[in-house]
Amino acid sequence: MQHIKQYVEQNKQRLLDELFDLLRLASVSADPKYKPEVLKTADYVAAKLRDAGADNVEICQTAGYPIVYGEKIIDVSKPTVLVYGHYDVQPPDPLELWKTPPFEPTVRDGKIYARGACDDKGQFYMHVKAFELMMQTGTLPCNIKFMIEGEEEVGSSNLGIFVKANKEKLKADVVLISDTSMISMEHPSLETGLRGLSYLEVEVTGPNRDLHSGVYGGAVANPITVLAQMIASLHDENNHITIPGFYNDVVPLTEAERKALNSAPYDEAEYKKDLDVTELWGEKGYSTFERTGTRPTLELNGIWGGYIGEGAKTVLPSKANAKISMRLVPNQTSEAITKLFTDHFLSIAPPYVKVTVTPHHGGEPAVTPTDSIAYRAAQKAIAESFGKEPIPTRGGGSIPIVALFEAELGLKTVLMGFGLDSDALHSPNEKYDIYNYYKGIETIPLFHKYFAELSN
Ligand code: BES
Ligand code: MN
Ligand code: MN
Repeated sequence: MQHIKQYVEQNKQRLLDELFDLLRLASVSADPKYKPEVLKTADYVAAKLRDAGADNVEICQTAGYPIVYGEKIIDVSKPTVLVYGHYDVQPPDPLELWKTPPFEPTVRDGKIYARGACDDKGQFYMHVKAFELMMQTGTLPCNIKFMIEGEEEVGSSNLGIFVKANKEKLKADVVLISDTSMISMEHPSLETGLRGLSYLEVEVTGPNRDLHSGVYGGAVANPITVLAQMIASLHDENNHITIPGFYNDVVPLTEAERKALNSAPYDEAEYKKDLDVTELWGEKGYSTFERTGTRPTLELNGIWGGYIGEGAKTVLPSKANAKISMRLVPNQTSEAITKLFTDHFLSIAPPYVKVTVTPHHGGEPAVTPTDSIAYRAAQKAIAESFGKEPIPTRGGGSIPIVALFEAELGLKTVLMGFGLDSDALHSPNEKYDIYNYYKGIETIPLFHKYFAELSN
Protein backbone atom coordinates (compact mmCIF):
# COMPACT_ATOMS: atom_id res chain seq x y z
CA MET A 1 0.00 0.00 0.00
CA GLN A 2 2.88 2.34 0.77
CA HIS A 3 4.30 2.33 -2.76
CA ILE A 4 0.81 3.08 -4.09
CA LYS A 5 0.25 6.12 -1.90
CA GLN A 6 3.73 7.35 -2.68
CA TYR A 7 3.27 7.04 -6.44
CA VAL A 8 -0.03 8.92 -6.34
CA GLU A 9 1.47 11.61 -4.13
CA GLN A 10 4.46 12.10 -6.40
CA ASN A 11 2.36 12.29 -9.56
CA LYS A 12 -0.64 14.08 -8.14
CA GLN A 13 -0.75 17.07 -10.46
CA ARG A 14 -0.03 15.13 -13.65
CA LEU A 15 -2.70 12.53 -12.86
CA LEU A 16 -5.21 15.36 -12.64
CA ASP A 17 -3.92 17.31 -15.67
CA GLU A 18 -4.27 14.28 -17.92
CA LEU A 19 -7.86 13.72 -16.80
CA PHE A 20 -8.56 17.39 -17.50
CA ASP A 21 -7.21 17.01 -21.05
CA LEU A 22 -9.54 14.06 -21.53
CA LEU A 23 -12.50 16.02 -20.15
CA ARG A 24 -11.81 18.91 -22.56
CA LEU A 25 -12.66 16.62 -25.48
CA ALA A 26 -16.39 16.87 -26.18
CA SER A 27 -17.03 13.20 -26.95
CA VAL A 28 -20.83 13.33 -27.19
CA SER A 29 -21.85 10.15 -28.99
CA ALA A 30 -25.52 11.06 -29.45
CA ASP A 31 -25.00 14.10 -31.66
CA PRO A 32 -23.17 13.74 -35.01
CA LYS A 33 -21.85 17.29 -34.81
CA TYR A 34 -19.35 16.13 -32.19
CA LYS A 35 -17.95 13.35 -34.40
CA PRO A 36 -14.42 14.80 -34.83
CA GLU A 37 -14.11 15.25 -31.06
CA VAL A 38 -15.31 11.72 -30.36
CA LEU A 39 -12.69 10.32 -32.75
CA LYS A 40 -9.99 12.51 -31.16
CA THR A 41 -10.96 11.10 -27.78
CA ALA A 42 -10.42 7.55 -29.01
CA ASP A 43 -6.93 8.60 -30.20
CA TYR A 44 -6.20 10.20 -26.83
CA VAL A 45 -7.23 7.08 -24.91
CA ALA A 46 -5.13 4.86 -27.18
CA ALA A 47 -2.09 7.11 -26.75
CA LYS A 48 -2.47 7.13 -22.97
CA LEU A 49 -2.80 3.35 -22.84
CA ARG A 50 0.38 3.08 -24.89
CA ASP A 51 2.19 5.58 -22.62
CA ALA A 52 1.09 3.64 -19.57
CA GLY A 53 2.74 0.51 -20.96
CA ALA A 54 0.02 -1.38 -22.80
CA ASP A 55 0.90 -3.60 -25.77
CA ASN A 56 -1.07 -4.18 -28.97
CA VAL A 57 -3.01 -0.96 -28.57
CA GLU A 58 -5.55 -0.71 -31.32
CA ILE A 59 -8.32 1.62 -32.35
CA CYS A 60 -10.82 -0.95 -33.52
CA GLN A 61 -13.25 0.37 -36.11
CA THR A 62 -16.92 -0.51 -35.89
CA ALA A 63 -19.98 0.60 -37.84
CA GLY A 64 -20.14 3.42 -35.28
CA TYR A 65 -17.48 4.89 -33.00
CA PRO A 66 -14.29 2.88 -32.44
CA ILE A 67 -13.42 0.68 -29.50
CA VAL A 68 -10.00 1.23 -27.95
CA TYR A 69 -8.18 -1.96 -27.03
CA GLY A 70 -4.89 -2.54 -25.25
CA GLU A 71 -3.35 -5.31 -23.14
CA LYS A 72 -0.44 -6.40 -21.01
CA ILE A 73 0.12 -10.10 -20.84
CA ILE A 74 2.80 -10.82 -18.25
CA ASP A 75 2.32 -14.58 -18.00
CA VAL A 76 -0.31 -16.69 -19.74
CA SER A 77 -0.63 -18.90 -16.68
CA LYS A 78 -1.73 -15.91 -14.59
CA PRO A 79 -5.35 -14.74 -14.41
CA THR A 80 -6.58 -11.98 -16.75
CA VAL A 81 -8.73 -8.99 -15.87
CA LEU A 82 -10.72 -7.31 -18.64
CA VAL A 83 -11.31 -3.64 -17.83
CA TYR A 84 -14.30 -2.08 -19.56
CA GLY A 85 -15.23 1.60 -19.68
CA HIS A 86 -16.63 4.22 -22.05
CA TYR A 87 -15.03 7.39 -23.38
CA ASP A 88 -18.27 8.83 -24.77
CA VAL A 89 -20.45 11.17 -22.73
CA GLN A 90 -24.02 12.40 -22.65
CA PRO A 91 -25.00 15.63 -24.41
CA PRO A 92 -24.36 18.65 -22.17
CA ASP A 93 -27.77 20.31 -22.61
CA PRO A 94 -29.29 22.39 -21.15
CA LEU A 95 -26.12 24.47 -21.45
CA GLU A 96 -27.47 27.54 -19.66
CA LEU A 97 -27.75 25.58 -16.40
CA TRP A 98 -24.00 24.89 -16.18
CA LYS A 99 -22.16 27.16 -13.76
CA THR A 100 -18.96 26.65 -15.79
CA PRO A 101 -18.78 25.27 -19.37
CA PRO A 102 -19.19 21.48 -19.60
CA PHE A 103 -15.98 20.93 -21.55
CA GLU A 104 -13.79 23.27 -19.52
CA PRO A 105 -13.18 21.20 -16.37
CA THR A 106 -13.23 23.44 -13.31
CA VAL A 107 -12.48 22.65 -9.68
CA ARG A 108 -14.83 23.97 -7.02
CA ASP A 109 -14.72 22.78 -3.44
CA GLY A 110 -12.45 19.85 -4.31
CA LYS A 111 -14.73 18.60 -7.08
CA ILE A 112 -14.14 18.49 -10.82
CA TYR A 113 -17.09 19.91 -12.75
CA ALA A 114 -17.30 18.71 -16.36
CA ARG A 115 -19.45 16.50 -18.59
CA GLY A 116 -18.09 12.96 -18.16
CA ALA A 117 -16.19 13.83 -14.95
CA CYS A 118 -17.84 10.85 -13.24
CA ASP A 119 -19.60 9.06 -16.15
CA ASP A 120 -17.29 7.62 -17.21
CA LYS A 121 -14.06 9.45 -18.05
CA GLY A 122 -13.02 10.14 -14.45
CA GLN A 123 -13.76 6.54 -13.59
CA PHE A 124 -12.26 4.58 -16.49
CA TYR A 125 -9.18 6.80 -16.50
CA MET A 126 -8.42 5.71 -12.92
CA HIS A 127 -7.83 2.26 -14.41
CA VAL A 128 -5.39 3.58 -17.00
CA LYS A 129 -3.47 5.41 -14.26
CA ALA A 130 -3.61 2.48 -11.84
CA PHE A 131 -2.17 0.34 -14.63
CA GLU A 132 0.60 2.90 -15.17
CA LEU A 133 1.28 2.80 -11.45
CA MET A 134 1.58 -0.99 -11.43
CA MET A 135 3.85 -0.91 -14.49
CA GLN A 136 6.08 1.81 -13.07
CA THR A 137 6.41 0.17 -9.67
CA GLY A 138 6.79 -3.35 -11.10
CA THR A 139 3.72 -4.60 -9.26
CA LEU A 140 1.34 -5.72 -12.00
CA PRO A 141 0.34 -9.13 -10.59
CA CYS A 142 -1.85 -10.44 -13.41
CA ASN A 143 -2.67 -9.95 -17.09
CA ILE A 144 -4.80 -7.00 -17.99
CA LYS A 145 -6.88 -6.11 -21.05
CA PHE A 146 -8.63 -2.82 -21.72
CA MET A 147 -11.72 -2.33 -23.82
CA ILE A 148 -12.91 1.28 -23.79
CA GLU A 149 -15.86 1.96 -26.05
CA GLY A 150 -17.42 5.10 -27.50
CA GLU A 151 -21.10 4.25 -27.79
CA GLU A 152 -22.24 3.33 -24.29
CA GLU A 153 -24.46 6.38 -23.91
CA VAL A 154 -26.30 5.52 -27.11
CA GLY A 155 -26.90 1.84 -26.40
CA SER A 156 -23.60 0.12 -27.40
CA SER A 157 -25.22 -1.27 -30.54
CA ASN A 158 -21.89 -2.16 -32.23
CA LEU A 159 -20.21 -3.56 -29.16
CA GLY A 160 -22.13 -6.84 -29.25
CA ILE A 161 -20.89 -7.47 -32.79
CA PHE A 162 -17.31 -6.67 -31.73
CA VAL A 163 -17.48 -8.97 -28.70
CA LYS A 164 -18.90 -11.85 -30.78
CA ALA A 165 -16.17 -11.43 -33.40
CA ASN A 166 -13.31 -11.14 -30.90
CA LYS A 167 -13.92 -13.84 -28.33
CA GLU A 168 -10.30 -15.00 -28.31
CA LYS A 169 -8.88 -11.50 -27.97
CA LEU A 170 -11.21 -10.71 -25.07
CA LYS A 171 -10.61 -13.97 -23.23
CA ALA A 172 -10.31 -13.21 -19.53
CA ASP A 173 -11.26 -14.45 -16.08
CA VAL A 174 -13.33 -11.51 -14.95
CA VAL A 175 -14.59 -8.11 -16.14
CA LEU A 176 -13.87 -5.08 -13.98
CA ILE A 177 -15.93 -1.91 -14.44
CA SER A 178 -15.92 1.44 -12.65
CA ASP A 179 -19.07 3.09 -13.98
CA THR A 180 -21.45 2.88 -11.01
CA SER A 181 -21.98 4.61 -7.67
CA MET A 182 -21.09 4.13 -4.04
CA ILE A 183 -23.44 5.08 -1.21
CA SER A 184 -20.87 7.61 0.07
CA MET A 185 -17.19 7.80 0.88
CA GLU A 186 -18.07 7.04 4.52
CA HIS A 187 -20.15 4.06 3.41
CA PRO A 188 -18.24 2.41 0.56
CA SER A 189 -20.36 -0.08 -1.36
CA LEU A 190 -20.26 -2.41 -4.34
CA GLU A 191 -23.17 -2.65 -6.76
CA THR A 192 -24.20 -6.24 -7.34
CA GLY A 193 -26.78 -5.72 -10.03
CA LEU A 194 -27.92 -3.38 -12.77
CA ARG A 195 -31.30 -2.86 -14.34
CA GLY A 196 -32.05 -3.54 -17.99
CA LEU A 197 -33.63 -1.07 -20.34
CA SER A 198 -36.29 -0.88 -22.98
CA TYR A 199 -36.39 2.48 -24.77
CA LEU A 200 -38.99 3.58 -27.28
CA GLU A 201 -40.73 6.49 -28.87
CA VAL A 202 -44.46 6.98 -29.41
CA GLU A 203 -46.33 9.22 -31.79
CA VAL A 204 -49.99 10.21 -31.69
CA THR A 205 -51.44 11.72 -34.86
CA GLY A 206 -54.80 13.44 -35.07
CA PRO A 207 -55.80 15.63 -38.02
CA ASN A 208 -53.63 15.63 -41.14
CA ARG A 209 -52.32 19.16 -40.40
CA ASP A 210 -52.06 21.72 -37.61
CA LEU A 211 -55.44 23.42 -37.19
CA HIS A 212 -56.78 26.74 -35.91
CA SER A 213 -57.77 25.82 -32.35
CA GLY A 214 -60.77 28.14 -32.46
CA VAL A 215 -62.14 26.98 -35.78
CA TYR A 216 -61.68 23.25 -35.10
CA GLY A 217 -61.20 23.03 -31.30
CA GLY A 218 -63.99 20.99 -29.72
CA ALA A 219 -64.70 19.03 -32.86
CA VAL A 220 -61.42 17.18 -33.35
CA ALA A 221 -59.36 15.28 -30.76
CA ASN A 222 -56.19 17.05 -29.68
CA PRO A 223 -53.24 14.59 -29.94
CA ILE A 224 -51.49 16.19 -26.96
CA THR A 225 -54.51 15.61 -24.71
CA VAL A 226 -54.85 12.05 -25.97
CA LEU A 227 -51.13 11.33 -25.45
CA ALA A 228 -51.30 12.79 -21.93
CA GLN A 229 -54.29 10.58 -21.10
CA MET A 230 -52.65 7.47 -22.51
CA ILE A 231 -49.42 8.14 -20.63
CA ALA A 232 -51.24 8.91 -17.37
CA SER A 233 -53.02 5.56 -17.57
CA LEU A 234 -49.71 3.64 -17.51
CA HIS A 235 -49.52 3.91 -13.69
CA ASP A 236 -52.35 3.11 -11.28
CA GLU A 237 -53.13 4.79 -7.95
CA ASN A 238 -50.42 2.73 -6.23
CA ASN A 239 -47.89 3.65 -8.91
CA HIS A 240 -47.85 0.12 -10.25
CA ILE A 241 -47.42 -0.14 -14.01
CA THR A 242 -50.70 -1.12 -15.69
CA ILE A 243 -49.34 -2.90 -18.76
CA PRO A 244 -50.83 -6.43 -18.61
CA GLY A 245 -48.14 -9.04 -17.89
CA PHE A 246 -45.50 -6.40 -17.12
CA TYR A 247 -44.50 -7.98 -13.79
CA ASN A 248 -44.94 -11.63 -14.84
CA ASP A 249 -41.23 -12.46 -15.15
CA VAL A 250 -40.01 -10.39 -12.20
CA VAL A 251 -38.19 -12.60 -9.70
CA PRO A 252 -39.27 -11.42 -6.24
CA LEU A 253 -36.54 -10.84 -3.69
CA THR A 254 -36.38 -13.17 -0.71
CA GLU A 255 -37.13 -11.64 2.69
CA ALA A 256 -33.43 -12.01 3.54
CA GLU A 257 -32.41 -10.12 0.38
CA ARG A 258 -34.89 -7.33 1.13
CA LYS A 259 -33.62 -7.10 4.68
CA ALA A 260 -30.00 -6.89 3.56
CA LEU A 261 -30.82 -4.23 0.99
CA ASN A 262 -32.77 -2.13 3.46
CA SER A 263 -30.08 -2.30 6.11
CA ALA A 264 -27.78 -0.14 3.98
CA PRO A 265 -27.46 3.40 5.35
CA TYR A 266 -30.04 5.74 3.87
CA ASP A 267 -30.96 9.24 4.97
CA GLU A 268 -34.31 10.10 3.45
CA ALA A 269 -34.23 13.71 4.63
CA GLU A 270 -30.84 14.17 2.97
CA TYR A 271 -32.05 12.42 -0.20
CA LYS A 272 -35.03 14.76 -0.47
CA LYS A 273 -33.00 17.83 0.37
CA ASP A 274 -30.44 17.09 -2.35
CA LEU A 275 -33.28 17.02 -4.93
CA ASP A 276 -35.42 19.81 -3.45
CA VAL A 277 -38.53 17.65 -3.21
CA THR A 278 -40.79 17.54 -0.17
CA GLU A 279 -42.12 14.03 -0.81
CA LEU A 280 -40.82 11.00 -2.62
CA TRP A 281 -42.94 9.07 -5.11
CA GLY A 282 -42.91 5.41 -6.06
CA GLU A 283 -44.42 1.99 -6.19
CA LYS A 284 -46.44 1.29 -3.05
CA GLY A 285 -45.00 -1.30 -0.70
CA TYR A 286 -41.32 -0.77 -1.54
CA SER A 287 -38.48 1.28 -0.05
CA THR A 288 -36.39 3.71 -2.09
CA PHE A 289 -33.53 1.21 -2.51
CA GLU A 290 -35.98 -1.48 -3.57
CA ARG A 291 -37.72 0.86 -6.01
CA THR A 292 -34.53 1.95 -7.75
CA GLY A 293 -32.56 -1.27 -7.51
CA THR A 294 -34.96 -4.18 -7.69
CA ARG A 295 -38.26 -3.03 -9.19
CA PRO A 296 -39.03 -2.29 -12.83
CA THR A 297 -40.13 1.26 -13.65
CA LEU A 298 -41.49 3.31 -16.53
CA GLU A 299 -40.36 6.89 -17.12
CA LEU A 300 -41.19 9.61 -19.59
CA ASN A 301 -37.88 10.97 -20.90
CA GLY A 302 -39.29 13.62 -23.17
CA ILE A 303 -42.58 14.87 -24.50
CA TRP A 304 -43.35 17.39 -27.23
CA GLY A 305 -46.00 18.65 -29.56
CA GLY A 306 -47.72 21.83 -30.63
CA TYR A 307 -46.27 25.28 -30.20
CA ILE A 308 -43.48 25.81 -27.68
CA GLY A 309 -41.89 29.01 -29.02
CA GLU A 310 -42.15 32.57 -27.63
CA GLY A 311 -45.59 33.97 -26.87
CA ALA A 312 -48.82 32.24 -27.83
CA LYS A 313 -50.04 30.47 -30.93
CA THR A 314 -53.58 29.10 -30.97
CA VAL A 315 -53.02 25.78 -32.63
CA LEU A 316 -54.59 22.35 -32.44
CA PRO A 317 -51.54 20.29 -33.41
CA SER A 318 -51.51 17.38 -35.76
CA LYS A 319 -49.05 15.34 -33.69
CA ALA A 320 -47.75 14.69 -30.19
CA ASN A 321 -44.71 12.57 -29.28
CA ALA A 322 -42.97 11.12 -26.28
CA LYS A 323 -39.83 9.17 -25.46
CA ILE A 324 -40.39 6.48 -22.87
CA SER A 325 -37.98 4.14 -21.12
CA MET A 326 -38.58 1.18 -18.87
CA ARG A 327 -35.98 -0.15 -16.42
CA LEU A 328 -36.03 -3.91 -16.15
CA VAL A 329 -35.04 -6.39 -13.48
CA PRO A 330 -34.26 -10.12 -13.57
CA ASN A 331 -35.78 -12.06 -15.42
CA GLN A 332 -37.49 -9.52 -17.64
CA THR A 333 -36.12 -9.17 -21.16
CA SER A 334 -36.09 -6.00 -23.22
CA GLU A 335 -37.60 -7.77 -26.21
CA ALA A 336 -40.59 -9.14 -24.29
CA ILE A 337 -41.21 -5.86 -22.46
CA THR A 338 -40.99 -3.82 -25.66
CA LYS A 339 -43.62 -6.09 -27.17
CA LEU A 340 -45.88 -5.92 -24.11
CA PHE A 341 -45.66 -2.14 -24.12
CA THR A 342 -46.32 -1.85 -27.85
CA ASP A 343 -49.34 -4.17 -27.80
CA HIS A 344 -50.80 -2.40 -24.78
CA PHE A 345 -50.18 1.13 -26.00
CA LEU A 346 -51.77 0.39 -29.38
CA SER A 347 -54.72 -1.32 -27.66
CA ILE A 348 -55.53 1.76 -25.56
CA ALA A 349 -55.39 4.12 -28.54
CA PRO A 350 -58.82 5.73 -29.01
CA PRO A 351 -60.33 5.50 -32.50
CA TYR A 352 -59.95 9.23 -33.18
CA VAL A 353 -56.12 9.16 -33.39
CA LYS A 354 -53.42 7.03 -35.02
CA VAL A 355 -50.66 5.74 -32.73
CA THR A 356 -47.24 4.34 -33.60
CA VAL A 357 -44.56 2.89 -31.32
CA THR A 358 -40.92 2.81 -32.48
CA PRO A 359 -38.42 0.83 -30.39
CA HIS A 360 -34.95 2.30 -29.84
CA HIS A 361 -32.32 0.35 -27.95
CA GLY A 362 -32.59 -2.16 -25.19
CA GLY A 363 -30.37 -3.89 -22.68
CA GLU A 364 -30.74 -6.79 -20.30
CA PRO A 365 -30.62 -6.63 -16.50
CA ALA A 366 -27.75 -8.31 -14.67
CA VAL A 367 -26.86 -9.53 -11.23
CA THR A 368 -23.22 -10.07 -10.33
CA PRO A 369 -22.07 -12.82 -7.96
CA THR A 370 -21.05 -12.00 -4.40
CA ASP A 371 -19.41 -15.36 -3.73
CA SER A 372 -16.68 -15.20 -6.38
CA ILE A 373 -12.94 -14.71 -6.02
CA ALA A 374 -13.20 -11.44 -7.92
CA TYR A 375 -15.92 -10.06 -5.64
CA ARG A 376 -13.88 -11.11 -2.64
CA ALA A 377 -10.86 -9.30 -4.13
CA ALA A 378 -12.93 -6.12 -4.58
CA GLN A 379 -14.18 -6.38 -0.99
CA LYS A 380 -10.64 -6.75 0.32
CA ALA A 381 -9.32 -3.90 -1.82
CA ILE A 382 -12.03 -1.52 -0.61
CA ALA A 383 -11.77 -2.66 3.01
CA GLU A 384 -8.05 -1.94 2.94
CA SER A 385 -8.24 1.38 1.17
CA PHE A 386 -11.35 2.78 2.94
CA GLY A 387 -10.87 1.03 6.28
CA LYS A 388 -14.42 -0.36 5.99
CA GLU A 389 -16.06 -3.41 4.43
CA PRO A 390 -18.12 -2.44 1.37
CA ILE A 391 -21.90 -2.78 1.55
CA PRO A 392 -23.53 -4.69 -1.33
CA THR A 393 -26.19 -2.63 -3.15
CA ARG A 394 -28.26 -2.86 -6.34
CA GLY A 395 -27.80 -0.13 -8.92
CA GLY A 396 -30.69 1.47 -10.71
CA GLY A 397 -28.82 2.37 -13.89
CA SER A 398 -28.02 0.16 -16.85
CA ILE A 399 -24.81 -1.07 -18.45
CA PRO A 400 -26.12 -3.46 -21.10
CA ILE A 401 -22.68 -4.87 -21.83
CA VAL A 402 -22.62 -6.65 -18.46
CA ALA A 403 -25.32 -9.14 -19.52
CA LEU A 404 -23.67 -9.42 -22.92
CA PHE A 405 -20.27 -10.34 -21.44
CA GLU A 406 -21.92 -13.15 -19.56
CA ALA A 407 -23.94 -14.39 -22.53
CA GLU A 408 -21.16 -14.15 -25.12
CA LEU A 409 -17.97 -14.73 -23.14
CA GLY A 410 -19.29 -16.51 -20.05
CA LEU A 411 -17.66 -13.75 -17.99
CA LYS A 412 -18.88 -12.37 -14.68
CA THR A 413 -18.41 -8.72 -13.80
CA VAL A 414 -17.31 -6.81 -10.73
CA LEU A 415 -18.84 -3.33 -10.51
CA MET A 416 -16.32 -1.32 -8.55
CA GLY A 417 -17.70 2.20 -9.00
CA PHE A 418 -16.40 5.26 -7.16
CA GLY A 419 -19.06 7.79 -8.20
CA LEU A 420 -21.94 9.08 -6.13
CA ASP A 421 -25.60 9.18 -7.17
CA SER A 422 -25.43 12.90 -6.39
CA ASP A 423 -22.63 13.48 -8.94
CA ALA A 424 -25.24 14.74 -11.42
CA LEU A 425 -24.64 12.12 -14.12
CA HIS A 426 -26.43 13.10 -17.34
CA SER A 427 -27.36 16.43 -15.68
CA PRO A 428 -25.92 19.94 -15.78
CA ASN A 429 -22.90 20.45 -13.48
CA GLU A 430 -21.81 16.82 -13.50
CA LYS A 431 -18.97 16.40 -11.04
CA TYR A 432 -16.45 13.99 -9.61
CA ASP A 433 -14.61 14.47 -6.37
CA ILE A 434 -10.82 14.68 -6.77
CA TYR A 435 -10.63 12.61 -3.59
CA ASN A 436 -12.63 9.81 -5.25
CA TYR A 437 -10.36 9.93 -8.32
CA TYR A 438 -7.20 9.40 -6.29
CA LYS A 439 -8.94 6.89 -4.03
CA GLY A 440 -9.88 4.87 -7.10
CA ILE A 441 -6.33 4.93 -8.43
CA GLU A 442 -5.16 3.65 -5.04
CA THR A 443 -7.81 0.96 -4.68
CA ILE A 444 -7.59 -0.60 -8.16
CA PRO A 445 -4.04 -2.02 -7.78
CA LEU A 446 -5.22 -3.70 -4.56
CA PHE A 447 -8.02 -5.38 -6.52
CA HIS A 448 -5.49 -6.83 -8.97
CA LYS A 449 -3.22 -7.89 -6.14
CA TYR A 450 -5.95 -9.75 -4.24
CA PHE A 451 -7.48 -11.17 -7.40
CA ALA A 452 -4.12 -12.66 -8.38
CA GLU A 453 -3.48 -13.92 -4.84
CA LEU A 454 -6.90 -15.47 -4.35
CA SER A 455 -6.80 -17.09 -7.82
CA ASN A 456 -3.76 -19.13 -6.86
N1 BES B 1 -22.78 4.68 -15.94
C1 BES B 1 -24.14 4.69 -16.36
C2 BES B 1 -24.98 3.65 -15.66
C3 BES B 1 -25.04 3.72 -14.16
C4 BES B 1 -24.99 4.91 -13.47
C5 BES B 1 -25.18 2.56 -13.46
C6 BES B 1 -25.05 4.95 -12.09
C7 BES B 1 -25.27 2.58 -12.09
C8 BES B 1 -25.18 3.77 -11.40
C9 BES B 1 -24.18 4.51 -17.87
O1 BES B 1 -23.28 5.33 -18.52
C10 BES B 1 -25.54 4.90 -18.37
O2 BES B 1 -25.89 6.05 -18.24
N2 BES B 1 -26.28 3.96 -18.96
C11 BES B 1 -27.52 4.26 -19.57
C12 BES B 1 -27.96 3.14 -20.45
C13 BES B 1 -27.55 3.23 -21.87
C14 BES B 1 -28.09 2.06 -22.66
C15 BES B 1 -27.92 4.54 -22.53
C16 BES B 1 -28.59 4.43 -18.53
O3 BES B 1 -28.54 3.81 -17.46
O4 BES B 1 -29.52 5.20 -18.81
MN1 MN C 1 -21.44 5.27 -17.65
MN1 MN D 1 -24.20 7.39 -18.58
